[in-house]
Formats: sequence, structure tokens, C-alpha cells
Amino acid sequence: MHFTIAIDGPAASGKGTLAKALAKHFGFEHLDTGLLYRAVAARVLAGDTPEHAAQTLDTHHLTHKGMRTPEVGAEASRVAAIPAVRAALVDYQRKVARRKGGAVLDGRDIGTVIAPEAEVKFFITASDTSRAQRRLAEFTAKGIDTDLETVLRDMQDRDARDSDRAAAPLRPADDAITIDTSDLTAEEVLAIAIELVDEVLPK
Ligand code: CDP
Ligand code: CDP
Repeated sequence: MHFTIAIDGPAASGKGTLAKALAKHFGFEHLDTGLLYRAVAARVLAGDTPEHAAQTLDTHHLTHKGMRTPEVGAEASRVAAIPAVRAALVDYQRKVARRKGGAVLDGRDIGTVIAPEAEVKFFITASDTSRAQRRLAEFTAKGIDTDLETVLRDMQDRDARDSDRAAAPLRPADDAITIDTSDLTAEEVLAIAIELVDEVLPK
């Protein structure tokens, strides 16, 4: 069975949390596509060119370690605006999206570019303040020294870069279901999403 759930949205809206939980619930594969751009960014920060880093990225050995820092996040949104970088990562993402047994992918362009055929598309949003507070809590838990104002500004810069770029900008697909998670717990968002997927999933 092929069944794709596409999840897009701005930084720290809760995409990853929802994607992971939905994949677990339905027994689907999960791909955090932001990790691909973060991995390319980490290599660029270490001296590689964006194009070379993307073309030689080893998708079998992606690690979360060291990837969720403010520096890597900011660089990820810069390399993500380069068409050759995006092009090098498309085939792998499409393959995962159509893998037998179902897949959940989260990112910025899943419903619009990677899997426009996805059976269910979610666009996850939350207020800027909620998102910045969530990201700050994550950074603080990791021992990263920063403050709400800095996190908010960095996040808004990144959202603007992701929305204003010409190549696969962040935007909801026409048939995406938008969920504002500002006042919802991750469990509440999951329950809403499961109900919506269940309506479409073949019995
Ligand atoms: O993947 P994305 O950057 O969109 O966000 P995330 O990593 O799923 O969520 C960012 C943080 O917000 C995590 O620490 C989640 O636990 C938290 N979160 C929340 O507080 N309420 C939600 N409804 C969803 C996520
Ligand atoms: O978790 P968060 O939303 O903060 O970031 P992420 O999903 O790990 O994505 C990091 C950056 O990669 C984003 O700011 C985008 O510039 C880029 N990205 C993209 O362009 N397309 C995707 N499908 C996923 C991420």
C-alpha cells in the first residue's frame, strides 16, 4: 500500500513531533526532511560547497547529533534556497514518500513539490511567540545559552527566507488542512490528525 502524509509549516510549529507520532501510530516510515538540509548546512559550515555537500550526502547515515543548533538552522535555510541543492535531494525524498507501507514526511515543500499526490496534507502553524518559546525551551534543555528575543528574531529571519525564496517556498498546498497548534498540546494535535487520516485511510 502507498499512503503519504505530507506535513509542512514554519519553524517549531510542531511538524516533527506530529510526524513522528503519526508514523508510530500508523506504522509508517518517517522522514524529517529538514535534517537533509541541516546535514548539508553542517558540511558547508565545515568548509564544503553547498552543491557538493548535497550531491554527496549519505542519506543512510544521517544523524540528529549537533544538527539542532541556531547556527546549523540558519545555514540550512541559506543552502535550502539554492536550486541545485534542492534538486540533489528530491529523488531520495520522493522514493521515501512512495515507499510501500506508508510514509510521513515533514518539511516545507512536501505537499507542494515532493509529494503533491500525498493522500493527506497538513499545514502546521502556531503564533510566533508560542514557536519561539518552544524553541527556546529546547535550546535551554540542551544547554545552549540564548534568550527569547534572539530566538524569535532568528526564527522570523529563517521563516522569511523560507517563504520568500523562488525555489519551493514555504506555503500550504491548496488542499492542505491547516492546524494552529498555539493552544494545543502535542497529544491534542495528534488526536485531531489521526481522526482526519482515518477518514481517508483505506480500511
Ligand atoms: O518540527 P518543528 O520544528 O515544526 O517542531 P517540533 O520540533 O515538532 O516542536 C517544537 C517543540 O514544541 C518541541 O519541543 C515540542 O515538544 C513542542 N510542541 C508543543 O509544545 N506543543 C505542540 N502542540 C507541538 C510541539
Ligand atoms: O524544525 P525546524 O522547522 O526549525 O527546521 P527544519 O525542518 O529542520 O528545517 C531547517 C531548514 O531547512 C528550514 O528553515 C528550511 O530552510 C529548510 N527546509 C526546506 O527548505 N525544505 C524542507 N522540506 C525542509 C527543510
